[in-house]
Amino acid sequence: MRGDLLDFTAAPAWGDTESPAVRFDRDHWLLIEDGRIVGRQAAEPDASWARKDHAGQLVLPGFIDTHVHCPQLEVIGSYGTELLDWLQRYTFPAERAFADPARSRAGAEVFLDALLASGTTSAVVFPTVHKVSAEALFEGAAARGMRLVTGKVLMDRHAPDGLRDDVEQAERDCVDLIDRFHGRERLAYAVTVRFAPTSTPEQLAMAGALCRADASLYMQTHVAENRAEVAWVAQLFPQARSYLDVYECVGLVHERAVLAHGIWLDAADKRLLAERGAQVAHCPSSNLFLGSGLFDWPGAEFNVSLASDVGGGTSLSLPRNLLDAYKIQALRGARLTAWAALHAATRGAAEALRLGGEVGGLSAGQAADLCVWDWARGPVAEARDAAARELHERVFAWMTQADERNLAACYVAGQRRV
Ligand code: GUN
Ligand code: ZN
Repeated sequence: MRGDLLDFTAAPAWGDTESPAVRFDRDHWLLIEDGRIVGRQAAEPDASWARKDHAGQLVLPGFIDTHVHCPQLEVIGSYGTELLDWLQRYTFPAERAFADPARSRAGAEVFLDALLASGTTSAVVFPTVHKVSAEALFEGAAARGMRLVTGKVLMDRHAPDGLRDDVEQAERDCVDLIDRFHGRERLAYAVTVRFAPTSTPEQLAMAGALCRADASLYMQTHVAENRAEVAWVAQLFPQARSYLDVYECVGLVHERAVLAHGIWLDAADKRLLAERGAQVAHCPSSNLFLGSGLFDWPGAEFNVSLASDVGGGTSLSLPRNLLDAYKIQALRGARLTAWAALHAATRGAAEALRLGGEVGGLSAGQAADLCVWDWARGPVAEARDAAARELHERVFAWMTQADERNLAACYVAGQRRV
């Protein structure tokens, strides 16, 4: 595959627009065999290779969206509320429909195709409380060859009828799904606690026990997103030192834990996340849209990945979300480089998920999960692209102007999917 190859060999330092971690090979060839990258070179390969010529286009590793809700596509862009009211008014009613297996399957198909059409080839996904919604996602991802982490949502209180489970049935469902899908093909199971308010202490303890029994399981949840939510957690768990401590006390904060948002964390919380090797999935468009707050990215000592959080987020496109991440830091008086942003959406997320050898880069041995992007679409972006004098300027301008319409092709394990 020929194109302008861009990926990262390390984490770029905050604020560096010229970084040794950036690997940009203009007009190079990636060699791909049996779904894996086997080399990259300047010289045209010999005639025995089939060719995909994307000369003049940008080739990036497929994006990794570390926090997104499959059943919320149809509540994207819902007007007028903050988190807790938004859940009651829009989100829970939409999720209830996924009790129907046909709705779960159709929802998973549309969702996974939409991820690919946005340039996202790997994702950590929330389905609903219904076991069938997790099954549908696993089966849909396997059919597309995608790397997907998901697990049935645990919620046994503070949710409407039709959206609650109980500890025993939930545990049986988790164990069955783990047996059938965890480690199969490119799938992995995440113990999925919606957030502390919707699980009883007994259910949180069960979730922690599942994680302790198998260190290869992921964990996904929400933490410290919204001030009213944080106050509610303090009321529900008076003995906990902080919101994060509710999870820590039951063993849910570990190196495969993906905690969305993390806006309202204190210094001890931040240290704990770093010590545990856990990651925060930063959800910029969601944080702006729901008025949740401005994430302190430069102050994070822990791993930070990037996420759309659709339907709280307003676009599945990670470039759109990276632009929002830039604006959030601008409001805080900091500046996010294209390198730090794109690294977090590719190699950074892969490393944090302990999948660094597998996805997130364009090195020999990694899966050929990659996307081909037009550098510019339309007269405004074309003029801006033509005016760029150096690489960071060009890629940053791309990041501010691009969306799913720039996607020219998307390959998953070497197979063209878009
Ligand atoms: N906290 C608990 N559930 C949700 C959800 O569905 N979306 C967001 N953004 N935050 C949550
Ligand atoms: Zn979320």
